Amino acid sequence: MTTTASAATALEQEIERYTAANPNSAAMHERAKESMPGGDSRNSIWWKPFPVYVARGDGSSMTDLDGNERVDFISNMTTLILGHRHPEVIKAVEAQLDRGLSYPAPAQLVVEWAELICDRVPSVEKVRFANSGTEATLNAIRAARAFTGRQKIVKCEGGYHGAHDDVAVSVNPSFDEAGDELAPESVRDYEGVPDKSLEHTIVIPFNNAAAAEAIIRENGSEVAAVIVEPVIGRLGMLPAQPEFLQALRDVTRELGIVLIFDEVISLRVSRGGSQEYFGIMPDMTAMGKIVGGGLPVGAFGGKSEIMALFDPESESGPRVKHAGTFNGNPMTAAAGIATLRSMTPELYDQIAELGEALRSKLLNLIAEREAPMGVTGIASLFSLQFTADQIVDYRSLESADKTLEAHMFIGMLNEGFALSTQCAGNISTVITPEQVDEFVAAVGRVLERAGYG
Ligand SMILES: Cc1ncc(COP(=O)(O)O)c(C=O)c1O
Repeated sequence: MTTTASAATALEQEIERYTAANPNSAAMHERAKESMPGGDSRNSIWWKPFPVYVARGDGSSMTDLDGNERVDFISNMTTLILGHRHPEVIKAVEAQLDRGLSYPAPAQLVVEWAELICDRVPSVEKVRFANSGTEATLNAIRAARAFTGRQKIVKCEGGYHGAHDDVAVSVNPSFDEAGDELAPESVRDYEGVPDKSLEHTIVIPFNNAAAAEAIIRENGSEVAAVIVEPVIGRLGMLPAQPEFLQALRDVTRELGIVLIFDEVISLRVSRGGSQEYFGIMPDMTAMGKIVGGGLPVGAFGGKSEIMALFDPESESGPRVKHAGTFNGNPMTAAAGIATLRSMTPELYDQIAELGEALRSKLLNLIAEREAPMGVTGIASLFSLQFTADQIVDYRSLESADKTLEAHMFIGMLNEGFALSTQCAGNISTVITPEQVDEFVAAVGRVLERAGYG
């Protein structure tokens, strides 16, 4: 998509306004660059010309170093489902603070946390804890390899499963390198990913059951796992078509392949995650974000017969080892338990209904302004799309207007709303219907400044 001169000028003006409103963040970013490359330690929260530095979060609001307040519509990348500093979470964390931060032995809280997850997530019979979603997918894949005795894995083009080598493949491939859309190339996401990851990781198109099945069958006897997000975050919180998930379920069952659902984001779709929503059960589930209530977390679980690989009490010890100084630490357990217990079915309904209202209001606005945009999402998750094409897979994003996306992201910060840099977001339980209306009005004002008045 080429950028017109007027769109580029409009974006420049938006950035000038941003720079003028955030001098303390700009100065902090200059300081950060002295000790961290590009001032950054986490790619997803770095943006041009500099990120805002947050001083405090409370409820639905975040305040930055310049005293600017923003309504948080991204909740640390969908994590803070109850908003910032929810009283129950703070109470639980403070109570644990009194008892110590971490121990060289397990705590009762971890057992309660595991019970809660096994009770809620239908396919999870046994669970283990880690400290990131990255570790969750890594361990689920490792278990699948050990269980099947096979090496290869299959993932969807555009799917993000964390920052380890075998999944750092075709998350965001350039359209020149991505190959045939029905049989995508495995493309290295960044330098340093070894060649073996490209050999081991086979890529399928999201939402194309026939093409995906053909690729899986072709490689069947070598494939340990198919890993998929039932709601794919990087394509704009896009739910899979149920037929696609069912086809993956059927073919993996037939060929003895472990089906892994990456529910690091989608667990917030309902009390039992998106597997409960779709009524399709994987063999293994990777979790993160909401299960830790705002503290670092990962969890993976599934069928007892697969999880038994990790059992130190089995005759010859665990077939797969899983260590980690902070695995199942009591601070995260406390925050996680408080969050999961607070999330009643009524609250899941409340955030899903508000998400639905937001998506439909945004769609009306976009139609009214004749902007080349769309809206995707499900339940409490949403994303603005910067193409009028229907989004079904990674290739649908080729026509996206990146200048308009950048303008919307910075423009919404200027309007007092935080989103991801891709303009994806979520509703947390502290967001009100009034804030949803204010959000939509703000999108309208940014569109006006971008030339869609
Ligand atoms: C679907 C999905 N899987 C895995 C991860 C990795 O989780 P973490 O950032 O906790 O390592 C993420 C992170 O955003 C994610 O969205």
